[in-house]
Amino acid sequence: MNFISKSIINGSFIIFLLIAFHISIAQRPGSYNAIYSGVPWLDDKGNVVSAHGANIVKDNGRYYLFGEAHTDTSNAFVGFNCYSSPDLYNWKFERIALPVQASGKLGPNRVGERPKVMKCPKTGEYIMYMHVDTLGYIDQFVGYATSKTITGPYVFKGPLLFNGKPVKKWDMGTFQDKDGTGYVLLHGGDIYKLSDDYKSVSEQVNKAMTSGFESPAIFRKDSIYYFLGSHLTSWEKNDNYYYTATSLKGPWTSRGLFAPEGTLTWNSQTTFVLPIEGSKETTYLFMGDRWSFPKQASAATYVWQPLIVSGTSLSIPKFREAWKINTSTGVALPSTIGKKTIENTDNRFITYSGNWQHESDSTSVSSSDEKGASLSVKFRGTQIGLYGLSGPTGGYARINLKNTKGKMVLSSLVDMYTKYPLVSLQFLSPFVPKGNYTLTVSVTGEHGNWSDKRKNVYGSTGNLVSLDKIFIND
Ligand code: GAL
Repeated sequence: MNFISKSIINGSFIIFLLIAFHISIAQRPGSYNAIYSGVPWLDDKGNVVSAHGANIVKDNGRYYLFGEAHTDTSNAFVGFNCYSSPDLYNWKFERIALPVQASGKLGPNRVGERPKVMKCPKTGEYIMYMHVDTLGYIDQFVGYATSKTITGPYVFKGPLLFNGKPVKKWDMGTFQDKDGTGYVLLHGGDIYKLSDDYKSVSEQVNKAMTSGFESPAIFRKDSIYYFLGSHLTSWEKNDNYYYTATSLKGPWTSRGLFAPEGTLTWNSQTTFVLPIEGSKETTYLFMGDRWSFPKQASAATYVWQPLIVSGTSLSIPKFREAWKINTSTGVALPSTIGKKTIENTDNRFITYSGNWQHESDSTSVSSSDEKGASLSVKFRGTQIGLYGLSGPTGGYARINLKNTKGKMVLSSLVDMYTKYPLVSLQFLSPFVPKGNYTLTVSVTGEHGNWSDKRKNVYGSTGNLVSLDKIFIND
């Protein structure tokens, strides 16, 4: 007799179910029904999804996301995370696919960035490539790690060799062509072809065609290759651009920007393009990072948008804060956020504490930079979203969602810094069980800023937190 049958007989099955139910509620605050860009995502355990500089591999009908794990305190390597999902909306934490090594090039106080996984068609092994470096970015090379299973743990093998020497470049990406050949891409535009076992480079097929061009990513549609990359502005966003060619060897033609100028690639930096091949069409998923140094673990978010690909033209003409993808048909569909709107001056729902300004200009936002000032919203429903004004003096907001018993349902840190002012979705909860909740937004008195490899200073100069309006789903 198995455990369940025995438990039913002695009555403990009900208790078992209650415990299991309680644990699952405690772990998983809710689920998502669309791709939401620019807001923290929670995984199946209620933790923020930390997988930046990522790529996605589809394996046995499931999507696997690999990316940088981060802390909120330093840039030191803390491993590469692996998550999986059936729908690209809800992510299950699988494991730390490659942990910090006890010592060596990916040991403590080193840098590990932009992990990319490909399955080697010849050996069936999974190979992970990454940028390895020192904290000061002076010892860069492409490293690799291998695993027999997709989720790992991956075993770090050291540098990827070309003619017996490491490839000493920093930002990197990967591309697997239709014939199964694997390529490693480097900043500037270098492309290296991998050997049959994916464990060394057999040939350099393209030499850098420009300077900068970080976060390189290639995808192919029919006979055209699209090569995307960013300017060199550290964690700051910039207007990313692209090239096209009919051969990876080039010649590569510069095609300009793929998002409207000044949007800074909708405030993100390219990391990967995933073709979602369905029965009806293929949607090309642009994956970008919205960095938030130093609080990269909590407040860096994802900008995932459908690319419009037509001939040699590539674009993301408008920002979709929510959209759906049918992974069986490959069709992308529009989606909306919230049904009911609460204005920031509506004192039936919102209570302010501390010093808040209500702007009477066109933005009409409520804002505060006073540490500890807060606002709370009492509502009944299944989901809450918050729009705010981000800008060059934006700071970090702490957002807590509690139920009527005062129990914390979720807690998120939101970065309201952007180089150019913008009213946008700042926070969105997953769908939680219908009920009464209180959402609290507090000014932390902190903001993100940093300096790059050349000691240029970037980031926010203030701690401003603002509220434009609230959206509720019943
Ligand atoms: C960016 C690069 C990131 C990271 C960062 C550090 O330009 O794309 O991967 O290296 O610089 O400042």
